[in-house]
Amino acid sequence: MTRPTVLVTRKLPQAVEERLIKDYQPLLNKEDRPLATEQLLSDSKKADALIITGQNHLSEETIAQLPERLKAIATFSVGYDHIDLEAAEKRGFAVINTPGVLTDATADVTWLLLLAAARRAHEGEQLIRQGKWSDPRPTQLLGTEVTGKRLGILGMGRIGRAVAKRAKAFDMEVHYCNRHRLSSEQEAGAIFHDTPEDLLGVSDFLSFHCPATPETENFLNARRIELLPDGAIIVNAARGSLIVDEDLIAALRSRRIFAAGLDVFEGEPNLNPTYRSLPNVFLLPHLGSATVETRTQMGFLILDNLDAVFAGKQPPNNLVS
Ligand code: DGY
Repeated sequence: MTRPTVLVTRKLPQAVEERLIKDYQPLLNKEDRPLATEQLLSDSKKADALIITGQNHLSEETIAQLPERLKAIATFSVGYDHIDLEAAEKRGFAVINTPGVLTDATADVTWLLLLAAARRAHEGEQLIRQGKWSDPRPTQLLGTEVTGKRLGILGMGRIGRAVAKRAKAFDMEVHYCNRHRLSSEQEAGAIFHDTPEDLLGVSDFLSFHCPATPETENFLNARRIELLPDGAIIVNAARGSLIVDEDLIAALRSRRIFAAGLDVFEGEPNLNPTYRSLPNVFLLPHLGSATVETRTQMGFLILDNLDAVFAGKQPPNNLVS
């Protein structure tokens, strides 16, 4: 039996590419160059499945041009806001993402952002790297204590809960808002708020863990920033589009918001350039899931799903029915 052809838009961890080579006919991106949509469409002509990334935007129009033979679109991400699911479903494609396997890695990066923002890690590092640490003194780079503060989590799915679990080690009081209240076992002592606005009022630290949807996009705007406690800290390892950049930047400049830790950006990698010049922002280039272990598991999960598709079975992580 001929092995299915899989177009892979970016280089993947070695173990994942090895498994692809063993079980499929992969069209690999050996040079690891970004693939423009036209190129993707032309390369996909012989493909039975695609493995794309969050940088490949599959609109209704693009999906309409994918070949008839295609069976599945797998995205190397848990987020799928870059794929028009309805259009994919209409074409009869399975759409596969990678839930579950990147929970801990993303929760760890959230904490990296939170601690770095609170303790002015970027400014401290700059001081050393620029050779300016010449005058150690008691009032140098004073940050905000994390221990004992209130952490507000918007979106209490797997990643939100993993962030909350880590917060216990810092004796934080965890508050959350979610589409529905969790069971008390899943809540694990966290305090539920009916509305996001309610959550903001108690969030000394506010961390985003919800998907980008028409309801959540541009959530953090000037009006909502005013609902936060003075000197609050914003953490975002979810999606850049949840924040109105200009409004957050203004609040960071005025110190209404003490600091922010951001791993994701609207329009990334072309983030709002003002972020680069703000001392009170700790910036990472979307590293949430970037560990060898996690990225390998993401690839294996995709391949488990493709194996199911080509065995005529229902893939467990199909996002469309
Ligand atoms: C995802 O998987 O959606 C994360 O943003 C990591 O890329």
